[in-house]
Amino acid sequence: MPTNTQDISHSIILGIESSCDDTAAAVMQNGKILANITAGQKIHEQYGGVVPELASRAHQSNIIPVISEALKQAEITIDEVTGIAVTQGPGLMGSLQVGFQLAKGLSIAKNIPYVGINHLQAHIAALFIENPLIELPMLALLVSGGHTQLVWVESLSQMEIIGTTIDDAAGEAFDKGAKILGLPYPGGPHVDRLAQQGNPQAFEFPDSQTEGLDFSFSGIKTSLLYFLRKRSAEDVNFIETEMANICASYQFQIVESLMKRLKKAIKLRQPKSIGMAGGVSANGELRMKFLAVGNNRKLPAYIPEFQYCTDNAAMIAMAGYHLLEAGNFSSLAETPFAKNHSSTFSK
Ligand code: KG4
Ligand code: ZN
Repeated sequence: MPTNTQDISHSIILGIESSCDDTAAAVMQNGKILANITAGQKIHEQYGGVVPELASRAHQSNIIPVISEALKQAEITIDEVTGIAVTQGPGLMGSLQVGFQLAKGLSIAKNIPYVGINHLQAHIAALFIENPLIELPMLALLVSGGHTQLVWVESLSQMEIIGTTIDDAAGEAFDKGAKILGLPYPGGPHVDRLAQQGNPQAFEFPDSQTEGLDFSFSGIKTSLLYFLRKRSAEDVNFIETEMANICASYQFQIVESLMKRLKKAIKLRQPKSIGMAGGVSANGELRMKFLAVGNNRKLPAYIPEFQYCTDNAAMIAMAGYHLLEAGNFSSLAETPFAKNHSSTFSK
């Protein structure tokens, strides 16, 4: 959303995202997404997780075709683009460099501004793509393979992380649990699907004890491992016969852990709305419980369309839109960052 009164009738932003294992490009005209293209990287499946060097190489092969496809679908030529928004971090350095250096190169070649975007801030910005008039302040739950955060959102440019994971992210808990169960990577969607046939009360997994609004998910994964070792020693077919019940019970505890902190934060901060973003927000049980939390408290609850939940470039363009309109450009001396060092976003 523009924060000033400049004429925005000629704004055409190219968004670029390459922080992890998805190469993505989007085109946004005057705040509306015209194209949103994402190329995933199948190569990592055989390794059961993202291999940074392979991710970086795949980005190099994918980035130009993905940008070309986004422009083609939007029916926009590169010469019509008025600004570039690109993920600056956090993420894998070799992956970030591919998108970031390309953005700088395009900026020089086409003599247009570019702006580096914080990937976490952009996941929250995704909530504004379909609902630009969200009631603020909003409490947002960001849940993905790399992040689990509670974010206090005053506006697109003023956000504060008020809770974070002290170890694994929620998506990692799904993926690592799934790996222990012998399911393919990424395991989250498989656990979700299998859990639908199971009883969430069949087995009990412990919630972690953390301070304040922070999360922890490494304990539940370890408890699953020990639980399966013990029960499989008694019955070699235990995993096979109880798969649905194990998935349902394991998922139940991850979702409970997320909802417990969300409810605590709502009580503490009294937001005007709640939002959820990140790949894990595709999870059926999590969506249902999140919407119920909003409904029970009469709070509008927002979850973006799935293409805007997972890593994508539309959210980068959205986050960059008001910055570019406000003349908040990045200099060519800037570089990507792998880790997020600040709990507030004020750009
Ligand atoms: O946001 P995202 O696409 O990429 C990251 O930034 O990490 O999130 C990917 C994560 C993976 O851990 C994946 O297993 C999880 O989202 N995920 C799910 C579901 N769909 C994707 N987890 C649970 N249930 C799902 N239906
Ligand atoms: Zn992400």
